[in-house]
Parts: sequence; C-alpha cells; structure tokens
Amino acid sequence: MTMDATSQRLLMCRPTYFAVDYAINPWMDPSAPVDAALAVRQWEQLRQTYLDLGHTVEEITPVPGLPDMVFAANGGTVIDGKAMAVQFRDPQRADEAPAYRAWFEAAGFEMYDPKHVNEGEGDVLLAGDHLLAGTGFRTAHAAHAQLQEVFGYPVVTMQLVDPRFYHLDTALTVLDERTVAYLPEAFSPGSQAVLRRLFPDAVHATMADAEVLGLNAVSDGRHVVLPAQATDLAAKLRDRGYETIGVDLSELRKAGGGPKCCTLRLRQGKASK
Ligand code: ARG
Repeated sequence: MTMDATSQRLLMCRPTYFAVDYAINPWMDPSAPVDAALAVRQWEQLRQTYLDLGHTVEEITPVPGLPDMVFAANGGTVIDGKAMAVQFRDPQRADEAPAYRAWFEAAGFEMYDPKHVNEGEGDVLLAGDHLLAGTGFRTAHAAHAQLQEVFGYPVVTMQLVDPRFYHLDTALTVLDERTVAYLPEAFSPGSQAVLRRLFPDAVHATMADAEVLGLNAVSDGRHVVLPAQATDLAAKLRDRGYETIGVDLSELRKAGGGPKCCTLRLRQGKASK
C-alpha cells in the first residue's frame, strides 16, 4: 500500500473571540469555565502542525460576536474550485455564513448559495468519488440533492443518530481515497450498512475515541492529525501504516469542536483533490 501525503490548502479562523456563551450541541455548557487564551495557543499549535506537514494555511479574519467562527469547516464546501456557501440551523451562527462567503468570493472561487440548512464540511466529506453527507441534526436532507447537482459527485446520505455526534465530521473521518474511520453507533442501521458496503476495510472507532472527538481528524493520506486523547484510534491508525500526530484542543472541545472542525479544505481542482 502506498501512503502518499498530499499537500493541502486549508482555511482556518483564529479563535480571537472564542467563548461558550450559548449551547447548540450537548458539548456546550455556558456555565463551565473556558480558558480563552489557552484556546488560542492550542489553535496556534494546530496551525503550526499543518505548516510543519507542508500544508498551506490561509486565514479568515475573525468577527467579534461570533464565538464559533473558529470552526471553519462549517464555513462552506469547496471542491474542484467551486465553493458552496452555508446556511446555519441556529441563529447564533447565522452571521458567519456571509463572512465566509465573502472570503471565498474574494479568493476567486465559483460561488453557489445554499437553498437549505447546510453546515458545510462539518457535514459534507469527499471520500474518493463519493460525497458523504450527514443529516439528522444540522444539514437538511434536502441540501444533499443540491450538493450533488453543484459538485457532480454522487452524494451518499448518512443518517446521524447520536446528538453528541451532530456533525458528520464528529463521527467519521476520511483517511484517504479508499479508507475512512468511523463510529458505527453514531449512524442509523441503514447508514451503517451503506458504510460497510462502501468501505469494507474501514477502521471502526470505539465510543471512548469518539467521546474525545477522536474522529474529528485531518488526514493528508499519510499523516493523521487527531486529538491526543484518542489513543486507541491512533494505535489502530498506526497499525494501518498512518503516522499519527496528536494535538490537544481541550478548550475548543468545550464548544464541541476538534481539529477537523477548525479546518476547511480548499480543493482547487482534480489535481489537488
Ligand atoms: N459550537 C459549534 C456548533 O455547535 C461547533 C461546531 C463544530 N464543527 C464541526 N465541524 N463539527 O455549531
């Protein structure tokens, strides 16, 4: 098996205004303390990890009053030079959508606007030639048809069933063109059957891995950046020949986010898929 790393172009948003002052997922407790300065340092470490791997990191300017804007994965879906903007389920995040949209437009992407609730790469993951699209908590099922029409990849609906794993990227990570890792229990029986059919060699994560957001990982096909606390998953990935890099995002996890949530993949075209 060849394990070629692909250098990636990534978009991130510094958590300058990060806080947990509302609760829109079960991880968020506005009464629990958050160390905002530590959140920034941990985020900087994540960014440096990508730079050390040879990836390009672009930054969008954070907007005051939008504490969850650090979760850039929810800013859009960008594939083959096309960018689809987002529509958040919750009003607290609504104003992030135009900020990200303006960034994509200025960066020269071909823009598409969502017709339904669509939380971007949090729920939409390209795995080989399939676009896996989550629904159940955030992205509306109706958004999946639009994604297929815009991007021209067959969209496979993934029904999420556990509120702690409310975005697809908290329950499944794409390791390379052929392989994913996921928590089976986070999906409906039918979606589990689809995952077994599409990815017979997938890595199955444990609940303990998922509960530290271990599946919220970023792979370049060879190196996998994941929460340091997901030790079982890291061991399984190393057995498969991946190099794992653990990062600590304890503060951002209090908002329900990990490394992948902080990272939006900017896919220019086939060559940089
Ligand atoms: N607090 C944010 C929310 O609930 C966290 C988003 C995490 N992002 C992700 N791609 N899973 O919307």
